[in-house]
Amino acid sequence: MDTIMEKKQVFDFDSPVERRATASLKWDKYKNRDVIPLWVADMDFQAPPAVIKALQQRAAYGVFGYTIAPQELNEVVVVMLKNLYGWEIESEWLVWLPGLVTGLNVVCRALGEEGDDVMTTVPVYPPFLAAPKHFRRNLIKVPLIEKNNRWQFDFDRLEQSITANTRVFLLCNPHNPVGRVYTRNELETLAAICKKHDIVICSDEIHCGLILDKDKPHIPTASLDPETAKRTITLMAASKTFNLPGLGCAFAVIDEKNLRRKIKEAMAGIVPMVNALGYTASRVAFEDCSDWHEALLDYLRGNRDTVQVAINRMPYLSMAPVEATYLAWIDMRAAEIKHPTAFFEDAGVGLQNGIEFDGPGFVRLNFGCPRSLLEKALQRMAAAMEDRFM
Ligand SMILES: Cc1ncc(COP(=O)(O)O)c(C=O)c1O
Repeated sequence: MDTIMEKKQVFDFDSPVERRATASLKWDKYKNRDVIPLWVADMDFQAPPAVIKALQQRAAYGVFGYTIAPQELNEVVVVMLKNLYGWEIESEWLVWLPGLVTGLNVVCRALGEEGDDVMTTVPVYPPFLAAPKHFRRNLIKVPLIEKNNRWQFDFDRLEQSITANTRVFLLCNPHNPVGRVYTRNELETLAAICKKHDIVICSDEIHCGLILDKDKPHIPTASLDPETAKRTITLMAASKTFNLPGLGCAFAVIDEKNLRRKIKEAMAGIVPMVNALGYTASRVAFEDCSDWHEALLDYLRGNRDTVQVAINRMPYLSMAPVEATYLAWIDMRAAEIKHPTAFFEDAGVGLQNGIEFDGPGFVRLNFGCPRSLLEKALQRMAAAMEDRFM
């Protein structure tokens, strides 16, 4: 009876958490300036209470020796992927990493030779653009197209752009910055093209826990079919969903043995071990924080709708619906403002310039913050646009 009557815990996403003078990358950029920072992708929320408690207990233990991924954590991930996506993996397929950006770089280092091609779609999260170049790979960029107010692959152009030297496709799903959750059909088409041209798919799924549209399930690329699983390296983490990016803990799932070996070889001596606190936090986040996660998604849906309504009202700005992530990709091309980020910084809002994502004329807005702060920022943006255009 007690359990049935048990009330759902209430989580507070409304009360602002002071992040000034806490060594926050996001907030320190505008130190001593009245600019609301809505740029780099972390949220202005505390981590789930269960995670904070587990970290306190781990810290109280006081020994911080070299730590490998606990087998229990591997098992938690195996069970989680099965329960959430019906995706059956084995714990040996897991390779723990201090971050997904490390994963993207290791993949570019491990596969092919100098001068080979790596393909991705643009706009995209900037490390996708930088990683191939770090290892003297050539980057082939295929633009996503906006059709019917939805960002989509241009599969014809994508396939035509493939060369005999294209070894890797870097996929972002859900997509940062356009907020798409790719459908099974889209993923199957992409996987078929990669199969035909013998291309390895590196599928960055860091945002998979941030699906806002309830009717659009996340489908891990590797879960499509066994053949696709063999050519896919999946990158995941608790970090975005549970707001733990500063703890540096992520993992790759690599089914195919040779691919796994190549990745481990490319990591050797360069990629450090994951820190002990990252493992502790990830395990608790995956195992014990589903109520917090559900409450977070509800809150983010409200923020997403607030942003969409506000942007629709601003002259010359538009955005396609955000299906996942806490990031809005705002089209400012019609406004013809030469320096969009400086324009909004002058108005007191810090956004990220689309140029960094290979999307000139756009800005990215991070709505992972208390609604009152978001509303204040949107009011500042609206006032600046009205001043300029009305
Ligand atoms: C698509 C994508 N991949 C990777 C990252 C960062 O991953 P990490 O902090 O684990 O290196 C981000 C952060 O915004 C992201 O959006």
